[in-house]
Amino acid sequence: MQKKGGNSHEDKSCDIGFIGLGVMGSMLTMNLVDHGYRVACFDLDQNKVESILAKDASERAENTEPRVEGCSSYTELLSKLKAPHLIIISVPAGDPVDHVCNHLIDAGIHADDIVVDTGNSLWTDSVAREDQYKGKFIFFSTAVSGGEVGARFGPSLMPSGNPYAWTRIEPVLKAIAAKVDPETGKPLESHTPGQPVLEGEPCATYIGPVGAGHYVKMVHNGIEYADMQLICETYHVMREALHMAPAEIAEVFRRWNEGKLNSYLMEISAEVLEQMDPETQQPLVDVILDRAGQKGTGLWTAVSALQVGSPAQTITSAVFARSISSLKDERVAASKVLAGPDAPSFSDDEKMSIINKLEQALYCSKICAYAQGFQLMAMAGKEHGWTLEFGEIAKIWRAGCIIRAVFLQSISQAYENNEDLANLLLDPFFAEQITQYQADWRESIAQATLAGVPCPAMMSALSYYDSYRTAVLPANLLQGQRDYFGAHTYQRVDKPAGKKYHIEWSDPARPQIAIKK
Ligand code: 6PG
Repeated sequence: MQKKGGNSHEDKSCDIGFIGLGVMGSMLTMNLVDHGYRVACFDLDQNKVESILAKDASERAENTEPRVEGCSSYTELLSKLKAPHLIIISVPAGDPVDHVCNHLIDAGIHADDIVVDTGNSLWTDSVAREDQYKGKFIFFSTAVSGGEVGARFGPSLMPSGNPYAWTRIEPVLKAIAAKVDPETGKPLESHTPGQPVLEGEPCATYIGPVGAGHYVKMVHNGIEYADMQLICETYHVMREALHMAPAEIAEVFRRWNEGKLNSYLMEISAEVLEQMDPETQQPLVDVILDRAGQKGTGLWTAVSALQVGSPAQTITSAVFARSISSLKDERVAASKVLAGPDAPSFSDDEKMSIINKLEQALYCSKICAYAQGFQLMAMAGKEHGWTLEFGEIAKIWRAGCIIRAVFLQSISQAYENNEDLANLLLDPFFAEQITQYQADWRESIAQATLAGVPCPAMMSALSYYDSYRTAVLPANLLQGQRDYFGAHTYQRVDKPAGKKYHIEWSDPARPQIAIKK
């Protein structure tokens, strides 16, 4: 290997270069070292480099060699890596990714070196980057889910890009990924530094050409938005219509978490609701401002659903729910002007019955949100020429990621039983589940509506279900309207598909014209 001019740091002992040592980057680095990789690290902020060195020193066994090497430049980082170089970056999506890539080019990266982007990048940016950096290095993308703890002890990974690069990266990503017990679909977890889980099925699978992995992660986040919003709406009904205290609701969520709703989001929601504010000693949730933030991935999912023409109204409703939450001042003003129904009151038995129904409502809505996400991936996959393996995607979401849930085992089973499944709702298991629980679902929404408690995601899920199972929708009238004002034509149920007609609406005789070609 050729020496880079005058670089005194050159020792080529590191397996992986890591750039970007924010929360996710530093945790991924520590995960890598736990699996025996020696990592050269760089961040524009040298304090972060110092911190990761200190973290390694505090976690490794006494009298052992450092597992992390700090670097003060891109050139130094490259000089410490075994060739061909493997560099993982964790920087904010957008320009910072290109900033890093361009600095690596200036520092002398080679054509067969691999740069893996692990940020929440827009999938189309990943596609453009593979092309843009061709000949300079191999740009590969690996979407990561799991937040800080996932990154540290096992995230869910959605890699995509050059298949040759995948063969080089696969062992690394499969080592650091979350692991699942293949029989039960439950996560195998260890949160002890230096003692990673080595057995089980890794939550990392090759998704497809570059961009596909970030697209799948984007949809994961869209589903995450819907899942979170549905839990929030359920909480809201219990809070406002049933007048339950946060701790009481937490107890219900904990109970549900032991059954078919078992999931990470359910578990953390109970914990959030139980938390007291150290300052006021009130439930913390009551002092958290009801204005939701968002970084954009849910919005991207909603935009993509609209562009692809895939009905994903529960995901979209969840994005809009965040938008309306941020109109706080307007809502406060409107609450003084706009009337709602009188607050209902319920006996203890009625309350218990509504709570039981809400569990089924949340479950059925959740099935619809996932059905929408998978349908969106299927339609987008077709459009972009990706062969997405939905059974495998559901499998890598069983652990490590934010939407991890027991429920994903049933989804992977559904696609394994029928890889051409057009919609999750048509899987015999899920179809039966909704048949069994739909009366409770409808009743819960009716109760919420009568009490004036908004539940946009839950309602949209039910509308999705009802629309999807309806053979004749009112789009017949809609086509009539379009033809009336714009001569946009319509097709007939009793004539060959594709054959178009128009009525001369302004002519008293209303003659129908068959449109040629
Ligand atoms: C994950 C999360 C993670 C993050 C998103 C969503 O899978 O680990 O989805 O990517 O939480 O950025 O954040 P917003 O709610 O701010 O859009």
